[in-house]
Amino acid sequence: MQIRQPIVAVLGHVDSGKTSLLDRIRGTGVQGREAGGITQHIGASFLPTETIKEMCGPLYKKLEQSENKVPGILVIDTPGHEVFTNLRSRGGSAADIAILVVDVNRGFQPQTNESLKILQSRKVPFVVALNKCDQISGWRKSETPFITQAIKEQDASIQTDLDQKIYDVVGTLSILGYKSEAFYRVEDFKSEIAIVPISARSGVGVPELLSVLVGLTQQYLQKRLDQDEKEPRGIVLEVKDEVGLGQTANVILIDGSIKKENSIVVAKRDAVIVTKPKALLLPKPLDEMRDPRDKFKPVPQIDAAAGFKIASPELEGVLPGSTLYVAKNTEEIAKYTKLIESE
Ligand code: GTP
Ligand code: MG
Ligand code: NA
Repeated sequence: MQIRQPIVAVLGHVDSGKTSLLDRIRGTGVQGREAGGITQHIGASFLPTETIKEMCGPLYKKLEQSENKVPGILVIDTPGHEVFTNLRSRGGSAADIAILVVDVNRGFQPQTNESLKILQSRKVPFVVALNKCDQISGWRKSETPFITQAIKEQDASIQTDLDQKIYDVVGTLSILGYKSEAFYRVEDFKSEIAIVPISARSGVGVPELLSVLVGLTQQYLQKRLDQDEKEPRGIVLEVKDEVGLGQTANVILIDGSIKKENSIVVAKRDAVIVTKPKALLLPKPLDEMRDPRDKFKPVPQIDAAAGFKIASPELEGVLPGSTLYVAKNTEEIAKYTKLIESE
């Protein structure tokens, strides 16, 4: 069995720290360059196994023993601002698993609930990252990257305070129909949502967050990630005219492969377009697609899961959120055209 990278969506209320968390993992500074510090687009970036290994440290040993080792992760950053419901849904619909980011001092907020509904309606499993632990009043900064150790180093009153904040989340989730617990108390990861206290700012808890996430993926999502007999399929995030490239679409390839000589079949407002890509462009690992440090690289083929750019003059008018199909021959073109027309 060959499993692909899981697509991990990061969702949550505005300013809970979604982009900061990804910056911390990638070693990037995307958040600092956003207008007003607000995310306004869906982003995507590839985290190679090397990065996950480095981040998890000794916790990676156990993950490495799995028969279904994930070949990296594709993370999707979404905006938390209330006006971007459609972008959150788009991010959620591409996701295999999600990180729901909650500000530890604020608890559940309106777009936390909204994000949860998106995950619920699509049956996307998730873990809760209880972020900004460094902002808990009286929290003592420590050197360790592991939250279990950092908690031990806090005064008893701070430990109680954190426990209370965790139980507030457990209470809220229980009203919404979920059983949850601090990850170090979870007995059955299949039936309980794991809550991982973290600080995107200091990085504490990120090793545990990633190892819980990867562990869940390797254990419970193999079937979904297995690429055997999966039809190639993507989702269009954004369509825009770019200097030097012309019309482009940012796409997440969810399953299968796309080659430059293949045809893409995708809906426009009132037509189906069939076109061959002028170019397939892949961002560098760890680069955020919407704010890359390096140029995208032209490639002959892309394998799922991946965020990439297609250049083609025909893409004008394609609606973001549309499913993109990949056809190898005229029969497949006819099949997918019919499928889109019947939707
Ligand atoms: P939107 O995408 O706009 O919804 O926001 P976001 O969830 O991506 O949050 P973002 O990363 O923009 O962080 C919001 C603010 O919180 C920024 O000023 C961050 O520096 C700050 N922040 C994020 N994580 C932490 C943390 O762990 N500790 C502290 N102290 N500040 C944090
Ligand atoms: Mg953001
Ligand atoms: Na923000």
